[in-house]
Amino acid sequence: MTEPALDALLHESRRFEPPADLAAEANAKADMYDEAGRDRLAFWERQAADLTWSAKWSKVLEWEPPFSKWFIGGTLNGCVNAVDRHVEAGLGDRVAYYWISDGDTERRTITYADLLREVSKAANGLASLGVKAGDRVTIYMPMIPETVVTILACARLGAPHNVVFCGFSSDSLSGRINDSDSHVVVTTDGQFRRGAPTPVKPAVDEALQKTPGIEKVLVVRRTGAEVDWTEGRDHWWHDVVEPASDSHEAEAFDSEHPLFMMYTSGTTAKPKGILHTTGGYLTQVAFTHRVVFDLKPERDIYWCAADIGWITGHSYIVYGPLINGATSVMYEGTPHPADKDRWWKLIADLKVSILYTAPTTIRTLMKWGAEELAPHDLSSLRVLGSVGEPINPEAWMWYRENVGGGRTPVVDTWWQTETGAIMISPLPGVTATKPGAAMTALPGISAEVVDNEGKPVGNGGGGFLVLTEPWPSMLRGIWGDDERYKETYWSRFPDVYFAGDGAKKDEDGDIWLLGRIDDVMNVSGHRISTTEVEHALVGHPSVAEAAVVGATDAMTGQAIVAFVTPRGSVAEDVSSGEEFVQSLRDHVAKEIGPIAKPRQVLVTPELPKTRSGKIMRRLLRDIAENRELGDVTTLLDPTVTDAIRERMAGGDTKEE
Ligand code: WTA
Repeated sequence: MTEPALDALLHESRRFEPPADLAAEANAKADMYDEAGRDRLAFWERQAADLTWSAKWSKVLEWEPPFSKWFIGGTLNGCVNAVDRHVEAGLGDRVAYYWISDGDTERRTITYADLLREVSKAANGLASLGVKAGDRVTIYMPMIPETVVTILACARLGAPHNVVFCGFSSDSLSGRINDSDSHVVVTTDGQFRRGAPTPVKPAVDEALQKTPGIEKVLVVRRTGAEVDWTEGRDHWWHDVVEPASDSHEAEAFDSEHPLFMMYTSGTTAKPKGILHTTGGYLTQVAFTHRVVFDLKPERDIYWCAADIGWITGHSYIVYGPLINGATSVMYEGTPHPADKDRWWKLIADLKVSILYTAPTTIRTLMKWGAEELAPHDLSSLRVLGSVGEPINPEAWMWYRENVGGGRTPVVDTWWQTETGAIMISPLPGVTATKPGAAMTALPGISAEVVDNEGKPVGNGGGGFLVLTEPWPSMLRGIWGDDERYKETYWSRFPDVYFAGDGAKKDEDGDIWLLGRIDDVMNVSGHRISTTEVEHALVGHPSVAEAAVVGATDAMTGQAIVAFVTPRGSVAEDVSSGEEFVQSLRDHVAKEIGPIAKPRQVLVTPELPKTRSGKIMRRLLRDIAENRELGDVTTLLDPTVTDAIRERMAGGDTKEE
């Protein structure tokens, strides 16, 4: 973020008090902060007691930094908490999901009783394929009800799920399958994107050429596309799950039994398998979902518009809402220009009262204009949430004024795959919000902004965001790599968790997130590592060297800009051509996935390096963002940057 933008942020003086009616009935009142502050562990113990346990824990927390265990000795089943207990309480007829297909051509209403039947069948089906407690199951599926059912069936069996976002490439998929050592993959023949069927299974087939461990593939028929079939390995869902018994006895697992892993980009080329366990994770996702969105399960219609392939989908489409007995909207599609008012139609039609989405989406809808909203009655909305990247005050205000009719609180929620659940956010019935600020750590959570030495900054200061006390839904580690876990999160400052984000405290002590300060980019709320993209680029036969930076982008938050030097054998007229640049962009999309495609690729004969040979990324970022360059005296060859800059100005890039 540039200094003037930052300055404007910090001088934001608008305040929005919670609406009186919401405040009066809110699930969380102001005294919750004191309550948690007096005895943090007793507070979390009370939240945990809202779950259904088979055996109660004997101790709340065991903390041997950086390893934590929560609710020790307790046993429970994640799926029972999400589904069975509501049916047993007589709420089987309550709708769990209104599922809407891409473009709203098909709808399915799924009650909690339906979900219990489907999940039981899927658990029996997966068990018949050999899945048992402790086995990892990789899930590569689009936004369809079977994806939720598969996740819950895994939880029911105690088999940690490993969901891989369906937009990732076959290479990304095979890496995650191998690292997690999964033996079973669940997928679909295809999916619907923007009104058209696109294939899914071919990516799995390709990935499986490099995954010797996979024994079984379970395939949901979604589009009816022709698919290649490997007898003995591949099985149709309708042959295995549909005919299975709809009764399944769930076993209780230890509170620390692994519930799932989710791979996320780090600062190296290899994604990290973030591990979450059962009792603490479920406690905190349910608690945060209840208080941050002020969920009233008997009357709210809640819509989290994330994809299940990311942590937001896990915590706030699947586990949080289901544990709380919520009625959710699950939409298969994403906003697109040929269908600009689809969201507003759905909100009006289904009377959505809580909406949770990302700033990139808000900015897209904002670009399409308030006139798209005007014909639709959005008065059912009462809480609006934002997640995934810093939200600029303009987008925040537009969200509140136009989507929320100026009535609704906007909760900007900061958290990460690693934190499992929301950590910093306003409470809608308590906090006077400021446009663009995540405000304060939730009750029971301890966050701080520290300087280089790890000392808390005063009000008005900026630095690194850290979490100073363990929390129930914290990652338990990186799958198979304790050293990397310590090194990544716990080595920057002793015994405090380093989040990788920059933050500021304003004059009131409220927290503003400023984005990643490491080599992780945040593009449309998706984490992508610069090293991963560089790795993909240098894997191209015509590339000698590559450097990648995240440049500020008005729409996507950050955008990927790549600087590439071609191999000597590539002729100048080829390497400077449009086709070459396009082939590099396509190569990255193929290696990682379309979300990692660089916005710009700049071909240059040299990269700017320090005298010790390090690529000067800061400088490249300045060039990519068109800023005046800072100090270049340590450069090996200062003329290199001039050459790069000239090429950039000359339009020797590809922009979409
Ligand atoms: C960023 C998504 C500013 C941040 C839940 C974090 C945010 C990374 C916010 C985690 C927010 C998430 N304001 N930045 N409200 N929420 N981030 O793991 O940089 O996909 O470290 O989890 O997104 O991304 P992840």
